[in-house]
Order: sequence, then structure tokens, then C-alpha cells
Amino acid sequence: MTRARTAVLISGRGSNLKALIDACRDPKFPAEISLVISNIAGAGGLDYARTANIPAKIVSHRGHASREDFDRALDAELEEANIDIVCLAGFMRILSDWFVRRWEGRVINIHPSLLPAFKGLNVHQQALDAGVRIAGCTVHFVVPELDSGPIIAQASVPVLPGDDADALAARILIEEHKLYPAALKLLAAGKVKLAGDKAVFA
Ligand code: GRF
Repeated sequence: MTRARTAVLISGRGSNLKALIDACRDPKFPAEISLVISNIAGAGGLDYARTANIPAKIVSHRGHASREDFDRALDAELEEANIDIVCLAGFMRILSDWFVRRWEGRVINIHPSLLPAFKGLNVHQQALDAGVRIAGCTVHFVVPELDSGPIIAQASVPVLPGDDADALAARILIEEHKLYPAALKLLAAGKVKLAGDKAVFA
């Protein structure tokens, strides 16, 4: 079995990166984590890559003439490592249209809300402010519009009385760590594809 060579892009803690690394330890998993890229040199998640002996690169977003220029630097690393699939996992940069088109159908993101509700930042507080009783997380194909691509998988959790943003985030994060590997598995095994503006399941 050829495993999909997967890059994970991070900016911080990297707990979703760790979940993906752990899932890929199973030799039957259809993807392997071949590269980790962080735009922040001190990102805590880099330690997970180092511990697992996965090549980790820092590509700073600073010092580039434009957003696309930074994305071209990312792209060069991805091409050099023969990457098939890119997983954004707490990657705090908005990718250019150029990059998104180039990697169309091959770049996915995890977002801690039940999209299309609550896009952008501070999503747990957004959910609490809206008074929803169910919250959750979404893995979706990345398209130029932020947090808007076709949905691959979702998981839900209850919002409990007394929840603050941290308590809700922690409950959702547990689901994220199951959902992201499951979604990557679908994509890497060819069981979901991007077709136009839809995710199509085999
Ligand atoms: C996660 O909540 C993810 O959904 C969001 O950013 C957070 C990253 O957490 N996009 P981690 O770095 O994977 O621990």
C-alpha cells in the first residue's frame, strides 16, 4: 500500500498534529506524516515532530514581500518533500488564492465549530454568546474563503451549564483528536474527493 505523504502545518501547541502522528503509527493507516512546517520557530508542536523523527521545517511568514511569496516558500518545501496532502492544524495564516488553487482538493483544515456556524477566531465564545446547546468541530477542504470549504466530517458535543470558553474548547478538542485522523483517512484512501464546490464520498 502506498501511503499518502502528508504535511501538517502548525503555528502553536500541535495537539492535532500529535493526534495525526499517533494515527499514522498504524501501518495500515493510508497516510504518513512526512513533513511538519511551522511558521513560528517556538511552536510547541514542533516537539511532537522531533520526538517522532519527522522532518520539521520553520518557514517564517516574516520577511516576505507578499502573502503569495510566503506561500511559494511553503509550496517549495511541500514539493521538495513530495507531499500529497496538506493538513492545517492550528496554522494561523490565511493562505493565498494561488496556494489554495494549486493544492485544491489536497489541503484540509480543522476548525473548532460546527461550520458554517462561527467562523474566524474566538469561536468557543461565539458559540456561548449565541446560546447554542450543541457545539463541535469540522474538517473541511480549504477554499479561498476562510472556514468555508466543503465539509468532510463533523463531531458534536453538548454545551453544558456553567461552560466557559475554555471548558467548551477542552470538550471539543477531545473530539478534534478523533475527527482529524478519521477525515485524513477518508481523503488518503480516496473515499472523499473535492468535486467543484462539493465533497463527494465514495
Ligand atoms: C484547534 O482547536 C483547531 O481546531 C484550531 O486551532 C486549534 C489548534 O490546536 N484550528 P492544536 O495546535 O492542534 O493543539
